[in-house]
Amino acid sequence: MSLIQKIGYIRRDLNILHSWCKCQSGMGQMHNSRYAFNRTHKWFKHSVILSPNPTITQGYWDERVFRLGNRIYPEWDCALLCHYGLGGHMKPHTDHVVFHFFTVLVNIGYCTFRIGNEEHLLDDGQVISFNSNIPHELLPVSSERASLTFRRIHSIYIPN
Ligand SMILES: [Fe+2]
Repeated sequence: MSLIQKIGYIRRDLNILHSWCKCQSGMGQMHNSRYAFNRTHKWFKHSVILSPNPTITQGYWDERVFRLGNRIYPEWDCALLCHYGLGGHMKPHTDHVVFHFFTVLVNIGYCTFRIGNEEHLLDDGQVISFNSNIPHELLPVSSERASLTFRRIHSIYIPN
């Protein structure tokens, strides 16, 4: 049994998704990551700051992200766009307890994703889900790569 579930592919809109990513990177709203190497990111719907205390605020709104999220993970509370430059990576970790473990990831570009003791080559446009309580990591990327990750936030953390 695999630790990732292969949900499908973004096919028809893949070129549009790539240009959308480029455009996002050029908007000056991507922040440098404290957790990953050579990564910038941006939150949609809800924005999550994890330390020193989990703080949830309103994130950016984007029609494309909302439509995509509603299609592939209707219960989603936040989407994280991450852009990795050459050599960008993220060490083994489990996601913070504010998040529900079930995570849906849209891979934009190519990468090797490790989870548990499995290694998966993710294709451009591939959509997967995985349990973020299981240690996972992104191996250094050999070309620019982005991801859009949809998660639920446990309701006790979401301000009214
Ligand atoms: Fe993670």
